[in-house]
Amino acid sequence: MEPEAIANDAYDALAEGYAARIDTKAHNAFYERPATLSLLGSVAGKRVLDAGCGVGKYTELLLEAGATVVAIDANARMLALARRRLGSKPVELIQANLERKLDFLADSSFDVVLCALVLDYVFDWHQAFSEFSRVLKPGGEVVFSVTHPFVDYVEHHHRNNYFAVERVEYVWNGFGAPVTVPSYRRSISAMLTPLLANGFRLETILEPRPQEAFWAADPDEYEKLMYQPGFVCFKGRR
Ligand SMILES: C[S@@+](CC[C@H](N)C(=O)[O-])C[C@H]1O[C@@H](n2cnc3c(N)ncnc32)[C@H](O)[C@@H]1O
Repeated sequence: MEPEAIANDAYDALAEGYAARIDTKAHNAFYERPATLSLLGSVAGKRVLDAGCGVGKYTELLLEAGATVVAIDANARMLALARRRLGSKPVELIQANLERKLDFLADSSFDVVLCALVLDYVFDWHQAFSEFSRVLKPGGEVVFSVTHPFVDYVEHHHRNNYFAVERVEYVWNGFGAPVTVPSYRRSISAMLTPLLANGFRLETILEPRPQEAFWAADPDEYEKLMYQPGFVCFKGRR
Protein backbone atom coordinates (compact mmCIF):
# COMPACT_ATOMS: atom_id res chain seq x y z
CA MET A 1 0.00 0.00 0.00
CA GLU A 2 1.09 3.56 -0.68
CA PRO A 3 -0.24 5.59 2.26
CA GLU A 4 0.45 9.08 0.90
CA ALA A 5 -1.91 10.94 -1.39
CA ILE A 6 -0.14 10.39 -4.72
CA ALA A 7 -1.65 13.37 -6.49
CA ASN A 8 -0.86 15.93 -3.79
CA ASP A 9 1.88 17.74 -5.72
CA ALA A 10 -0.26 17.77 -8.84
CA TYR A 11 -3.19 19.28 -6.92
CA ASP A 12 -0.88 21.92 -5.46
CA ALA A 13 -0.15 22.95 -9.06
CA LEU A 14 -3.76 22.59 -10.21
CA ALA A 15 -5.52 24.24 -7.27
CA GLU A 16 -5.95 27.84 -8.49
CA GLY A 17 -6.84 26.77 -12.03
CA TYR A 18 -9.30 24.24 -10.67
CA ALA A 19 -10.97 26.85 -8.45
CA ALA A 20 -11.24 29.26 -11.38
CA ARG A 21 -12.78 26.74 -13.81
CA ILE A 22 -14.76 24.17 -11.83
CA ASP A 23 -18.09 26.02 -12.03
CA THR A 24 -18.14 26.13 -15.83
CA LYS A 25 -15.70 23.55 -17.21
CA ALA A 26 -17.80 21.42 -19.53
CA HIS A 27 -16.59 18.00 -18.33
CA ASN A 28 -17.66 18.90 -14.81
CA ALA A 29 -20.58 21.29 -15.25
CA PHE A 30 -22.34 19.55 -18.15
CA TYR A 31 -21.24 15.95 -17.77
CA GLU A 32 -19.92 14.51 -14.48
CA ARG A 33 -21.67 16.80 -11.98
CA PRO A 34 -25.25 16.51 -13.26
CA ALA A 35 -24.83 12.73 -13.52
CA THR A 36 -23.47 12.36 -9.99
CA LEU A 37 -26.07 14.74 -8.56
CA SER A 38 -28.83 12.73 -10.22
CA LEU A 39 -27.75 9.71 -8.14
CA LEU A 40 -27.76 11.72 -4.90
CA GLY A 41 -31.40 12.76 -5.00
CA SER A 42 -32.63 15.11 -2.26
CA VAL A 43 -30.10 15.77 0.50
CA ALA A 44 -32.25 18.24 2.46
CA GLY A 45 -31.86 17.57 6.17
CA LYS A 46 -29.23 14.88 5.59
CA ARG A 47 -25.70 14.72 6.99
CA VAL A 48 -23.28 14.31 4.09
CA LEU A 49 -19.56 13.53 4.00
CA ASP A 50 -17.98 15.17 0.93
CA ALA A 51 -14.95 12.90 0.65
CA GLY A 52 -12.34 14.60 -1.52
CA CYS A 53 -14.13 17.95 -1.64
CA GLY A 54 -11.47 19.74 -3.70
CA VAL A 55 -12.28 23.45 -3.94
CA GLY A 56 -15.73 22.83 -2.48
CA LYS A 57 -18.03 23.00 -5.49
CA TYR A 58 -20.08 19.97 -4.42
CA THR A 59 -19.92 21.13 -0.80
CA GLU A 60 -21.48 24.41 -1.83
CA LEU A 61 -24.27 22.68 -3.78
CA LEU A 62 -24.96 20.30 -0.90
CA LEU A 63 -25.23 23.18 1.58
CA GLU A 64 -27.55 25.08 -0.78
CA ALA A 65 -29.69 21.94 -1.03
CA GLY A 66 -30.15 21.87 2.75
CA ALA A 67 -27.57 19.27 3.81
CA THR A 68 -25.22 19.43 6.77
CA VAL A 69 -21.76 18.79 5.36
CA VAL A 70 -18.38 17.64 6.58
CA ALA A 71 -15.84 18.04 3.77
CA ILE A 72 -12.44 16.36 3.72
CA ASP A 73 -9.53 16.43 1.31
CA ALA A 74 -5.86 15.46 1.35
CA ASN A 75 -4.67 18.71 -0.19
CA ALA A 76 -4.27 21.83 1.95
CA ARG A 77 -4.41 24.26 -0.99
CA MET A 78 -7.63 22.77 -2.31
CA LEU A 79 -9.12 23.04 1.20
CA ALA A 80 -8.03 26.69 1.51
CA LEU A 81 -9.77 27.43 -1.78
CA ALA A 82 -12.85 25.56 -0.56
CA ARG A 83 -12.89 27.83 2.50
CA ARG A 84 -12.55 30.87 0.21
CA ARG A 85 -15.53 29.66 -1.83
CA LEU A 86 -17.66 28.79 1.18
CA GLY A 87 -16.81 31.87 3.27
CA SER A 88 -18.56 31.75 6.62
CA LYS A 89 -21.00 29.02 5.62
CA PRO A 90 -21.23 26.45 8.40
CA VAL A 91 -19.14 23.53 7.18
CA GLU A 92 -16.31 21.56 8.70
CA LEU A 93 -13.33 21.35 6.31
CA ILE A 94 -10.77 18.78 7.41
CA GLN A 95 -7.47 17.66 5.88
CA ALA A 96 -7.52 13.87 5.65
CA ASN A 97 -6.24 11.09 3.44
CA LEU A 98 -8.69 8.45 2.23
CA GLU A 99 -5.85 5.90 2.26
CA ARG A 100 -6.09 6.02 6.06
CA LYS A 101 -8.65 5.56 8.83
CA LEU A 102 -10.96 8.52 9.35
CA ASP A 103 -10.85 8.22 13.14
CA PHE A 104 -12.14 11.75 13.66
CA LEU A 105 -15.53 10.73 12.20
CA ALA A 106 -17.95 8.81 14.44
CA ASP A 107 -19.52 5.48 13.53
CA SER A 108 -22.98 5.65 11.87
CA SER A 109 -22.95 9.45 11.76
CA PHE A 110 -23.71 10.19 8.06
CA ASP A 111 -26.66 9.57 5.75
CA VAL A 112 -24.61 9.99 2.57
CA VAL A 113 -20.98 9.77 1.47
CA LEU A 114 -20.21 11.59 -1.79
CA CYS A 115 -16.83 10.85 -3.37
CA ALA A 116 -16.71 12.60 -6.75
CA LEU A 117 -13.64 12.16 -8.98
CA VAL A 118 -11.37 11.22 -6.08
CA LEU A 119 -10.97 7.44 -5.96
CA ASP A 120 -8.83 7.50 -9.12
CA TYR A 121 -6.06 8.72 -6.79
CA VAL A 122 -6.67 6.19 -4.02
CA PHE A 123 -4.81 2.88 -4.11
CA ASP A 124 -6.57 1.10 -1.24
CA TRP A 125 -10.28 1.09 -1.99
CA HIS A 126 -10.87 -1.54 0.72
CA GLN A 127 -9.66 0.99 3.31
CA ALA A 128 -11.80 3.76 1.83
CA PHE A 129 -15.00 1.71 1.56
CA SER A 130 -14.47 0.17 4.99
CA GLU A 131 -14.42 3.69 6.44
CA PHE A 132 -17.36 4.85 4.31
CA SER A 133 -19.32 1.85 5.60
CA ARG A 134 -18.35 2.55 9.22
CA VAL A 135 -19.34 6.22 9.19
CA LEU A 136 -22.62 5.64 7.34
CA LYS A 137 -25.86 4.86 9.16
CA PRO A 138 -27.54 1.58 8.21
CA GLY A 139 -29.35 2.28 4.94
CA GLY A 140 -26.97 5.13 4.15
CA GLU A 141 -25.69 5.62 0.63
CA VAL A 142 -22.37 6.14 -1.08
CA VAL A 143 -22.25 7.90 -4.46
CA PHE A 144 -18.96 8.00 -6.30
CA SER A 145 -17.66 8.88 -9.74
CA VAL A 146 -14.37 7.92 -11.39
CA THR A 147 -12.72 7.81 -14.78
CA HIS A 148 -14.44 5.07 -16.77
CA PRO A 149 -12.21 1.96 -16.78
CA PHE A 150 -12.78 1.48 -20.51
CA VAL A 151 -11.39 4.86 -21.51
CA ASP A 152 -8.63 4.64 -18.92
CA TYR A 153 -7.40 1.36 -20.38
CA VAL A 154 -8.10 1.75 -24.07
CA GLU A 155 -7.37 5.44 -24.59
CA HIS A 156 -5.37 6.95 -21.76
CA HIS A 157 -3.02 4.16 -20.72
CA HIS A 158 -2.94 1.35 -23.17
CA ARG A 159 -0.95 -1.30 -21.33
CA ASN A 160 -0.86 -5.05 -21.69
CA ASN A 161 -2.76 -6.12 -18.57
CA TYR A 162 -6.31 -4.88 -18.07
CA PHE A 163 -6.59 -6.71 -14.73
CA ALA A 164 -3.68 -4.98 -12.99
CA VAL A 165 -4.17 -2.05 -10.63
CA GLU A 166 -1.45 0.22 -11.90
CA ARG A 167 -0.12 3.66 -11.20
CA VAL A 168 -0.31 5.78 -14.35
CA GLU A 169 0.09 9.43 -15.30
CA TYR A 170 -1.91 11.73 -17.53
CA VAL A 171 -1.20 15.32 -18.57
CA TRP A 172 -4.15 17.61 -17.80
CA ASN A 173 -4.51 20.66 -20.04
CA GLY A 174 -7.98 21.77 -18.99
CA PHE A 175 -7.20 23.71 -15.80
CA GLY A 176 -4.57 26.18 -16.99
CA ALA A 177 -0.90 25.25 -17.52
CA PRO A 178 -0.36 21.51 -18.21
CA VAL A 179 0.07 19.40 -15.09
CA THR A 180 1.09 15.73 -14.97
CA VAL A 181 -1.38 13.99 -12.69
CA PRO A 182 -0.70 10.50 -11.29
CA SER A 183 -3.59 8.13 -10.66
CA TYR A 184 -4.43 4.43 -10.37
CA ARG A 185 -6.04 2.62 -13.28
CA ARG A 186 -8.09 -0.45 -12.39
CA SER A 187 -10.66 -2.90 -13.72
CA ILE A 188 -14.40 -2.86 -13.07
CA SER A 189 -14.14 -5.74 -10.62
CA ALA A 190 -11.34 -3.95 -8.74
CA MET A 191 -13.81 -1.06 -8.36
CA LEU A 192 -16.84 -3.04 -7.28
CA THR A 193 -15.32 -5.75 -5.07
CA PRO A 194 -14.27 -3.29 -2.30
CA LEU A 195 -17.77 -1.79 -2.37
CA LEU A 196 -19.54 -5.16 -2.10
CA ALA A 197 -17.04 -6.63 0.38
CA ASN A 198 -17.69 -3.77 2.81
CA GLY A 199 -21.39 -4.34 3.23
CA PHE A 200 -22.78 -2.25 0.38
CA ARG A 201 -25.14 -3.41 -2.30
CA LEU A 202 -24.79 -1.82 -5.70
CA GLU A 203 -27.91 0.18 -6.61
CA THR A 204 -26.97 2.08 -9.75
CA ILE A 205 -24.32 2.28 -12.44
CA LEU A 206 -24.58 5.39 -14.57
CA GLU A 207 -22.52 5.79 -17.73
CA PRO A 208 -23.61 9.34 -18.50
CA ARG A 209 -23.78 11.22 -21.76
CA PRO A 210 -22.97 14.94 -21.84
CA GLN A 211 -25.76 17.49 -21.53
CA GLU A 212 -26.71 19.60 -24.56
CA ALA A 213 -24.91 22.61 -23.06
CA PHE A 214 -21.61 20.72 -23.46
CA TRP A 215 -21.93 21.00 -27.22
CA ALA A 216 -21.67 24.80 -27.24
CA ALA A 217 -18.53 24.64 -25.09
CA ASP A 218 -16.73 21.89 -27.02
CA PRO A 219 -18.58 20.27 -29.94
CA ASP A 220 -15.82 17.76 -30.81
CA GLU A 221 -15.54 16.46 -27.28
CA TYR A 222 -19.34 16.39 -27.03
CA GLU A 223 -19.55 14.16 -30.12
CA LYS A 224 -16.89 11.87 -28.70
CA LEU A 225 -18.60 11.54 -25.32
CA MET A 226 -21.89 10.68 -27.00
CA TYR A 227 -20.25 7.49 -28.27
CA GLN A 228 -17.45 6.74 -25.81
CA PRO A 229 -17.52 6.95 -22.00
CA GLY A 230 -15.39 9.36 -20.00
CA PHE A 231 -16.65 8.96 -16.43
CA VAL A 232 -18.79 6.41 -14.63
CA CYS A 233 -20.92 6.99 -11.53
CA PHE A 234 -21.98 4.39 -8.96
CA LYS A 235 -24.42 4.35 -6.09
CA GLY A 236 -24.23 1.82 -3.28
CA ARG A 237 -26.35 1.38 -0.16
CA ARG A 238 -25.33 -0.02 3.22
C1 LIG B 1 -10.60 15.99 -9.35
S1 LIG B 1 -10.59 16.66 -7.72
C2 LIG B 1 -12.31 16.47 -7.31
C3 LIG B 1 -12.76 17.47 -6.28
C4 LIG B 1 -14.27 17.50 -6.05
N1 LIG B 1 -14.79 16.25 -5.54
C5 LIG B 1 -14.97 17.88 -7.33
O1 LIG B 1 -15.57 17.01 -7.98
O2 LIG B 1 -14.91 19.06 -7.70
C6 LIG B 1 -9.80 15.39 -6.78
C7 LIG B 1 -9.60 15.75 -5.31
O3 LIG B 1 -9.22 14.54 -4.62
C8 LIG B 1 -8.28 14.88 -3.63
N2 LIG B 1 -7.56 13.65 -3.26
C9 LIG B 1 -6.69 12.95 -4.01
N3 LIG B 1 -6.22 11.90 -3.33
C10 LIG B 1 -6.80 11.94 -2.11
C11 LIG B 1 -6.71 11.12 -0.97
N4 LIG B 1 -5.92 10.05 -0.94
N5 LIG B 1 -7.44 11.44 0.12
C12 LIG B 1 -8.25 12.54 0.10
N6 LIG B 1 -8.38 13.35 -0.97
C13 LIG B 1 -7.66 13.06 -2.06
C14 LIG B 1 -7.41 15.92 -4.32
O4 LIG B 1 -6.65 16.65 -3.38
C15 LIG B 1 -8.46 16.73 -5.07
O5 LIG B 1 -8.92 17.82 -4.29
